Amino acid sequence: MAYDLIVIGTGPGGYVCAIKAAQLGLKVGVIEKRATYGGTCLNIGCIPSKALLHASEVFHQTGHGIDALGVEVSAPKLNLSKMLAHKDATVKSNVDGVAFLFKKNKIDAFQGTGKVLGEGKVSVTNDKGEEQVIETKNVVIATGSDVAGIPGVEVEIDETVIISSTGGLALEKVPATMVVVGGGVIGLELGSVWSRLGAKVTVVEYLDTILGGMDGEVSKQFQRMLAKQGIDFKLGAKVTGVVKSGKGAKVTYEPVKGGDAATIDADVVLIATGRKPFTDGLGLAEAGVVMDKRGRVEIDGHFQTSVTGIYALGDVVRGPMLAHKAEDEGVAVAEIIAGQAGHVNYDVIPSVVYTQPEVASVGKTEEELKAAGIAYKVGKFPFTANGRARAMLQTDGFVKILADKDTDRVLGGHIVGFGAGEMIHEITVLMEFGGSSEDLGRTCHAHPTMSEAVKEAALATFFKPIHM
Ligand code: NAI
Repeated sequence: MAYDLIVIGTGPGGYVCAIKAAQLGLKVGVIEKRATYGGTCLNIGCIPSKALLHASEVFHQTGHGIDALGVEVSAPKLNLSKMLAHKDATVKSNVDGVAFLFKKNKIDAFQGTGKVLGEGKVSVTNDKGEEQVIETKNVVIATGSDVAGIPGVEVEIDETVIISSTGGLALEKVPATMVVVGGGVIGLELGSVWSRLGAKVTVVEYLDTILGGMDGEVSKQFQRMLAKQGIDFKLGAKVTGVVKSGKGAKVTYEPVKGGDAATIDADVVLIATGRKPFTDGLGLAEAGVVMDKRGRVEIDGHFQTSVTGIYALGDVVRGPMLAHKAEDEGVAVAEIIAGQAGHVNYDVIPSVVYTQPEVASVGKTEEELKAAGIAYKVGKFPFTANGRARAMLQTDGFVKILADKDTDRVLGGHIVGFGAGEMIHEITVLMEFGGSSEDLGRTCHAHPTMSEAVKEAALATFFKPIHM
């Protein structure tokens, strides 16, 4: 029996696409090489890291933050294996959830490595090397991404001393010292986890700012907050070598603006210098699927590759490598294959860094608006002036809203603060509907909430905030 759709890869892009297509009445199968569904995000990415970020934050807060609230406890004791077991249980419940949803939606799952055999055919090869050919009208490539390593530097990742994010989720003991290569999202999230658990963490970053691409004011203030938490930064520093040495490793870096190279020793080195599209073994070149210069699968405005009936989405194609971007693409592709008008609004994709405080943003940064020559106005509001934040001792950070100078339409929103990752969505919805800062500022917000700072920042954008 031929399928309407076979999806290769069951990360957030692939599994959502499969479920949506099944909901729309298509006969769907998925191919997955891992033993469990959910891809990097559920197995070794977003979900396990959030379990460790939450648990390590509770540990840190108990030791440092609750005394001022009148809660006195003796120093908390870390049971790392229990914390890791919590992470593993979180992963299991999520990957099991996807398996349940596949069954519920009557999606057939094939275990093994998928390969595209041209129009209308794919194959799956299992662990024993047995190959099965499957006929299908459409194929979606949703194979995600893999650790990129350090560009131009030979590094042997052993996942114990020199680790990627995968090893960073499973260290058996807290290292005394950790060097993080790359001050991007993975470096700062996992660096925070091990710093809270007691490691002395140093982040070495090529750019002269952390979280490159984020609003400049946000990343500057956020870096100060992380420094206060004890994380050291070497910015404008290009890592040129990472080698094992004794029980640990040595990291060599050169100042980007010139000067002498320096070396830091560490018990563990986390390589967090980006990810690259994963297309190994898919047979794309043989099938005539065109790739772009950066090794991504090239797609048209409807997610179709150069071969009719073969689509691609998520980390393997252009755009930010974010699970929720892939999910939205999964829905759009399923709709397109089912004959509907699938669409993703790439101007309104939020992004969140799950540190403490969180950093969240949507739309344009101030730097992007300047570069594009768009006249804009800015409204800001600090959490120090928010009653709820004071009550919870969570006054670090601020909300910043950017709106078109003439029309007042909101073009970007940036939040550093406790719960920023939840609050960003009201700005996201507003932007999706083309709303103005006045719309947001005139929307009633419950009191007392952290979200009132979003309303006040909107008031500051079109006129004046009340509480400042
Ligand atoms: P990234 O691209 O965010 O950051 C990598 C950093 O490494 C950059 O700042 C870069 O300048 C730096 N770098 C590169 N070469 C270097 C060198 N030789 N020396 C020093 N620094 C160097 O990549 P990251 O953090 O590995 O994340 C990979 C992907 O996963 C990203 O696309 C990210 O958006 C996604 N992700 C998203 C999360 C979230 O949304 N919360 C969580 C984790 C990952």
